[in-house]
Amino acid sequence: MKQSAQYPNLFSAIRIGNFEAPNRICHVPTDISSANADGSVNQRVITYHEEIAKGGCGFIIVGASTPDRKTGRPTVGCIAVDEDPMIMGLAELAEAMHRHGAMTSVQIQHPGRQAAWPRKDLISASDMVVDIPGSAGHEVVYAQGHAHGKSIRAMTIEEIYDLVEKFAEGAWRVQQAGFDSVELHGAHGYLISQFMSPYVNKRNDRFGGSFLGRMRFPLEIIESIKFKCGRDFPIGIRYSAEEFIEGGRHLEESVKVAKLFEEHGVAFLDVSAGIFELPGPTMDPMYYPQGWNTYTSEEIKKHVTIPVITSHTLRDPDYCERIIARGQADMVGLSRQLIADPYWGAKARSGKKEEIRKCISCLVGCWQESLMIKRHMRCAINPAVGDERFLHISRASRELSVAIVGGGPAGMEAARIATLRGHRVTIFEKTNELGGAVLLCCTVSGKNKMRWYADWIRQQIAKMGVEVRYGHVPEPSELSGYDAVLVAVGGSIVRPGIPGIESKRVCTFEDVLRCALKKCEYYPKEGKPEPVEVGDTVLIWGDHFGAADAAEKLGVDGKKVYIVTENRAFASWLEPCNKDVMDKRFKGGNGEGLTGRTFAHPVTIIPSSTVLSIASDGEVTLVDNTFRRSTLKVDNVVLATVQADDSLYRRYLAAGLIAGRIGDARKVRNLRGAVTDGAGIGLTLDGDLQLNANSAVVSNLPTEVQL
Ligand SMILES: Cc1cc2nc3c(=O)[nH]c(=O)nc-3n(C[C@H](O)[C@H](O)[C@H](O)COP(=O)(O)O)c2cc1C
Repeated sequence: MKQSAQYPNLFSAIRIGNFEAPNRICHVPTDISSANADGSVNQRVITYHEEIAKGGCGFIIVGASTPDRKTGRPTVGCIAVDEDPMIMGLAELAEAMHRHGAMTSVQIQHPGRQAAWPRKDLISASDMVVDIPGSAGHEVVYAQGHAHGKSIRAMTIEEIYDLVEKFAEGAWRVQQAGFDSVELHGAHGYLISQFMSPYVNKRNDRFGGSFLGRMRFPLEIIESIKFKCGRDFPIGIRYSAEEFIEGGRHLEESVKVAKLFEEHGVAFLDVSAGIFELPGPTMDPMYYPQGWNTYTSEEIKKHVTIPVITSHTLRDPDYCERIIARGQADMVGLSRQLIADPYWGAKARSGKKEEIRKCISCLVGCWQESLMIKRHMRCAINPAVGDERFLHISRASRELSVAIVGGGPAGMEAARIATLRGHRVTIFEKTNELGGAVLLCCTVSGKNKMRWYADWIRQQIAKMGVEVRYGHVPEPSELSGYDAVLVAVGGSIVRPGIPGIESKRVCTFEDVLRCALKKCEYYPKEGKPEPVEVGDTVLIWGDHFGAADAAEKLGVDGKKVYIVTENRAFASWLEPCNKDVMDKRFKGGNGEGLTGRTFAHPVTIIPSSTVLSIASDGEVTLVDNTFRRSTLKVDNVVLATVQADDSLYRRYLAAGLIAGRIGDARKVRNLRGAVTDGAGIGLTLDGDLQLNANSAVVSNLPTEVQL
């Protein structure tokens, strides 16, 4: 690989305890919840981490592993280090990463009150039942925990010492497996942090009561590991420098914590943020700007000599180089960035930073649609996570010509994978710009990370030489020369036939969100509709991404916004960490640690209701689920309900084309749904293409039914 002089600091070695990491890139622990049900390591776990090592990450800390499955698994698919037979799989995992030059660690984490399993009789520092909006544990089951019989109890002294021993035994197994170090999870409101936090720890025995009392649990664990594994075996600790909760720990105390850990022989500090009562700073959804947490490592580093890792929304190698160069941290920690693109380090080092698929912090694939609902981890924009078929994309047995109608995320991802497999692809895009629904989010303050994905995928399409025909939706007759046609035209906005729907006051969320950025690097050569102007008071009608995005855009623009939804609550489909911040912004505030512009007026949600009519003077009549009517005077009504649109697909099928339907044209979902559809069909296109009895596009059916 070409050596790059561009990032001299990022690619310099660093000593951590008794080993040297080859560069400053650290994979901060990420529980991918993909181990076997008994917690043993499997090929899925190995492949995930091996790709990251291949991609040039210098120090990989494997995500949360439980020291005691019986009392707490952080996720149902976490790794376990609580029995000797686990050592074998762990050893294979360490070997797979070492093969590619990475140094390694495993994080040991007892979730305490935040266990995904078991569900009852959870242990903690204190008796304190909490509803945790964002934890990977069990909020789906345990929203309003008390009512559902959830119990969390303070551990006895005996139990504490028993668990201290289990942590040490777990660390010993990690060491036996050949890992270079171990990390303790003292962040995010899990068990160690429950003891460390002045907000959670209400004990008045020797494990609470004072700063040193709260620190006794981690210090006992550290001492016990040193006794069991030898004083030379490096121990790191992750903890939240700021908990952002009233009564919680702040940076000032976190400096004291750092000094105490260094005095007790800790080899590295992994400085994180937050506690799960307030999930924003812990998981930083889209709203959090790059490097927002680095001020904490910068301060802590002034007071210790051991390596300090900073993390949270680090995406760009130039930015990361500056962190190291300025001495704000010794290593940069990446979690979701390496989910979205495990080859970040290799791309940066070889001068291909524009090839990096930057994580957009949506938390949909890695959190909402996986860990939270007890499934293996996935990624909205990287289909290879959890699906090894995409790691070894082979050429198709026959080169096909493929027409893709619709240049949104589903269409572009299908084009990307199909082209990689050697097919000739033409995208027909009705507007004069690729991007589809993704472009709309780019215009929303706090969500412009979507632009990163839009830029990346559009650049891939351009680089691969995919033919794009703009401003045209092809008739079936124009497509007869193609082997396959993929319909990716997205959904359509519903226009209910109520009185007043044709009024000039009515527009759609697309009209409001249109990107008017003249400076956008993909701004089409000619013609781009401007966003519509709306008045000061706006009613958004619907419960879709478009509704949430329009509310955010208009809220920041200083409009008074009402949202009418037929559902009991608005945006219950939204990823909870993102929703937590959005809800706070709707109320006129901001997420914890965020300093961005707030809305001039709080957003009013009108649940369980619908619109009956829109009068010419802007008076809107609403009806709720008890048939009670009310009126509201607004300047504009923004339609924001989307439905799948299969009309074009049906026309193509009727014309005898081999046609598939992907993205919102098939079913209205999110970006992950679109990208997964596109990637999947791109991989399906091959040799003997046909429609099966479900009218699904399939290839190489192992039967004699080929047409
Ligand atoms: C799917 C997922 C699993 C995570 N698992 C862990 C974990 O096991 N231990 C931990 O300390 N943090 C965990 N985190 C938090 C990340 O390490 C990281 O602090 C956070 O995602 C913000 O950094 P990022 O922007 O680099 O992702 C997890 C995050 C995600 C999204």
